[in-house]
Amino acid sequence: MATSKPKKPTSIHQEMVDRQVLFPAQFKGAGDDRIQKANKINGGQMVEIEWKDGIRSKFHSIWLRHNCHCSCCKLDVSGQPIVPLTEIPLEELYIQDTDISEENVLKVKWQEGDKTHQGYLPSSYLKTYCYSDGEIERKSNAARMTFTTDSKIPEIEYKEVMETQTGLYQWLSLLGDRGICMVRNVPTVEDHILKVSRRVALPQHTVYGYTFDVKDRPNASNAAFRSIALNLHMDQATYESPPGIQMLHCLRFDDQVVGGESVFADIHHIVDVFRQEHPGEFKTLCRVPVTYETIGYEDAAGRELPVHFQIRRPIISLNTYGHVIAIIYHEIMTGPLQVDEHDVEPFYKAYQMLMQAVRAWPNKFRVRLKPGDMITFQNRRLMHGRSAYVSNGGLRHIQGSYINIDEFRSMLIYLQNTVGDGSPIRRIGLLDMY
Ligand SMILES: [Fe+2]
Repeated sequence: MATSKPKKPTSIHQEMVDRQVLFPAQFKGAGDDRIQKANKINGGQMVEIEWKDGIRSKFHSIWLRHNCHCSCCKLDVSGQPIVPLTEIPLEELYIQDTDISEENVLKVKWQEGDKTHQGYLPSSYLKTYCYSDGEIERKSNAARMTFTTDSKIPEIEYKEVMETQTGLYQWLSLLGDRGICMVRNVPTVEDHILKVSRRVALPQHTVYGYTFDVKDRPNASNAAFRSIALNLHMDQATYESPPGIQMLHCLRFDDQVVGGESVFADIHHIVDVFRQEHPGEFKTLCRVPVTYETIGYEDAAGRELPVHFQIRRPIISLNTYGHVIAIIYHEIMTGPLQVDEHDVEPFYKAYQMLMQAVRAWPNKFRVRLKPGDMITFQNRRLMHGRSAYVSNGGLRHIQGSYINIDEFRSMLIYLQNTVGDGSPIRRIGLLDMY
């Protein structure tokens, strides 16, 4: 007869891992998270933690209570907080006592009105999400994009991306940091682009479907589907959430086709310089909303359904520390300006100056794609365009697809914490965490 094994006593830390409310890899970049001391301060309204490295962090009683990791306060597996916040008497919430367990977990006993609650929080969590003493501003500074004038496009092999986690991580890191990466030697098979995107996420659907084909179609109403030159732009600027990643897979580019070179420029880098050179116009573009529009009732131009997109938002968005966090820029989708009358002329002046800065930008990437090349880039950061071309009886056929920005960010963080060193990722042009 089988005897059931005696249940091993588990530590609080292990119990949180087993309940899947704590994933140790999530805090790979937390640094030295050993707690030296934890003392209640301000009459129990706060806890001050002194870390082994001498740094101190303060946490409010309500912040700790809301993030309590015990099984009454966090749902297993999802980790969602189920703390009955509405029932907690904020005026009568005090920390009675704190302790540090052997495995470095902060144990807290709260007095809340006439009740008490005993719970705990892992130290890695506290170290990572510390917010005291200007820490949020430091995190925001650390998340700034970095720029380079190097115009060589970084590259990676298709096989590495598809077959190894390190290859996938390298690809997404290059996309995250530089905003652009060429994937080489992708099979020239239609819809193969979807297999590549599925390493990250399901493709982002737009009115053009899951993929779109860029080749010369006489009379197409969308300039992308003609052979004329395309100014630098970002796709789907009329969406509230334009795609984060764009992938363009070259299936055919016959030798006799003349022109059709792809061009890329980093709008965040351009605006960073523009801000220093034209601070007044920069402020105008942060404040006055542009209108972007896509209208197509009759000719579907590669779309299955009629469309009437409109969005009104400032071209440049800042966070509370004045850092640029998002830019949405598309010259030929610019629709009728809808702003107060005193803003019309300043807006046009500033917009025209930004357009001139884009045209004059010296650090553009240029490439003539070859069959098997897949150029991938942050759609909201690396604007793309192409020179006009003449087919001469040949074919230029590019298939494109998108990845949603949040899903890209999520996979990048996961890989950063499991394959990489766990350090925080930089901004990717999303209205972002920091
Ligand atoms: Fe485009």
